[in-house]
Amino acid sequence: PGNLGAAPPRLPFSRVTQEDLAFFKTLLPERTITDPDLLKSCNVDWLKTVEGNSEVLLRPKTTEEVSQILRYCNERNLAVCPQGGNTGLVGGSVPVFDEIILSTSLMNQVITFDNISGCVLENLSNYLEERDFIMPLDLGAKGSCHIGGNVSTNAGGLRLLRYGSLRGTVLGLEVVLADGRVLNCLATLRKDNTGYDLKQLFIGSEGTLGVITAVSILCPRKPRAVNVAFLGCSSFQQLLETFQCCRGMLGEILSAFEFLDASCMSLLKKHLKLTNPITESPFYIVIETAGSNAAHDEEKLHNFLEEVMSSSIALWSLRERITEALTHEGYTYKYDISLPVEKIYDLVQDMRGHLGGMAKNVVGYGHVGDGNLHLNITSPSKDPVLLAAIEPYVYEWTSEWKGSISAEHGLGLKKRNYIYYSKPSEAVALMGSIKAMLDPKGILNPYKTLPDHIH
Ligand code: FAD
Ligand code: MLT
Ligand code: ZN
Repeated sequence: PGNLGAAPPRLPFSRVTQEDLAFFKTLLPERTITDPDLLKSCNVDWLKTVEGNSEVLLRPKTTEEVSQILRYCNERNLAVCPQGGNTGLVGGSVPVFDEIILSTSLMNQVITFDNISGCVLENLSNYLEERDFIMPLDLGAKGSCHIGGNVSTNAGGLRLLRYGSLRGTVLGLEVVLADGRVLNCLATLRKDNTGYDLKQLFIGSEGTLGVITAVSILCPRKPRAVNVAFLGCSSFQQLLETFQCCRGMLGEILSAFEFLDASCMSLLKKHLKLTNPITESPFYIVIETAGSNAAHDEEKLHNFLEEVMSSSIALWSLRERITEALTHEGYTYKYDISLPVEKIYDLVQDMRGHLGGMAKNVVGYGHVGDGNLHLNITSPSKDPVLLAAIEPYVYEWTSEWKGSISAEHGLGLKKRNYIYYSKPSEAVALMGSIKAMLDPKGILNPYKTLPDHIH
């Protein structure tokens, strides 16, 4: 059926006029950017695979400014692309055509100990660590991504196994709706069953239902003892057995169980000069424990492992920098799949057989603890023949095993039309009704998340 991830035709939104610019410049003097050089990086995604053509970047500082922008755009029928750190991996964070880019980069205040939106994740982590707390999520993009972007994509990351998804740790949100109304659901309560939990609608909605302007989030205490171990496994079966054993023996202190295959290790070495600290193996595991009693945790870990301890930062780099290493190989086709954990590597092996010599690399890594595989396929440049061999094959395979075609990255532009592989048509239709109710003109992040026939 062709490349369903490609951009659809432009919808009939208004185009930005001189009067519109005058309005924005009055509202946001110095923070209405039209210089093409400054706009360039905001028009291209992190992977450099999707490029828009926006001529205006707005950088509000307050919720009231976001509200005025959206009220105006809604009246004028101007499309808007909300943007955080622009680290999204599915083409959701950049305009497809000339949508106005609404950046949260200046909405970076820690209002109290809790309410935040455009804050860079790593800055928040540092802020909290000084106060003996941590963020309940951690990802390789922490130096750039924003908490508002994380919530909008419902990002998973490296600690989900321990602290759960943002659907549980986000206690409240402030959201500006398409028509400028401000929805204040910024609760900080652990329990609140007063009717529908509206904030859940915005978590993972990828900027299509509202702009998140503040977040309150439940932060765990900083663990007193953190240990990281790096292991090699001779087969995926052995890796799975190690996972089961690990769960049993480490129990509540296990905070991450991540894997990479030997192909990832070669790329880390080739492009980033990272060295393998242990004997070469077909698979590698990064295990992290986080507990309150160092002696107890270490004893547990030592009982469990004939481990190789080294600097935990160096060990984590081997897992966190795979995404970066892959970008040096040319064009990367990225798949982010949830499956029953015992099936996850079958997909990588099956894909290698299916593609034969067509791809440069077919690699697997991901979050074993969450049954989440990152299957990445590279080629020297964009290759429509390769793409046609991968899609919809990869989605059919996933659907057959009742998996999710997007475990944690969202659908964005690239995967919007494949939603039916993971969601029944009744559910997609209901999503369409919700979108129509909250954003009747469809100005918020058009062409993203929902399949084309719904926009
Ligand atoms: P952007 O990329 O700017 O935007 C992402 C989406 O959210 C877009 O659709 C955008 O329109 C929307 N959006 C952004 N801000 C707002 C807002 N305030 N209100 C409404 N909508 C908004 N993801 C994972 O789940 N787990 C990982 O482990 C992980 N690791 C990564 C590692 C690397 C090296 C990279 C580059 C990416 C990784 N990602 C991961 C992908 C990614 O989704 C996250 O990086 C992150 O959550 C995106 O945040 P951002 O601020 O960059 O958002
Ligand atoms: C990861 O787990 O490393 C991220 O989700 C990024 C990626 O999939 O490359
Ligand atoms: Zn991931």
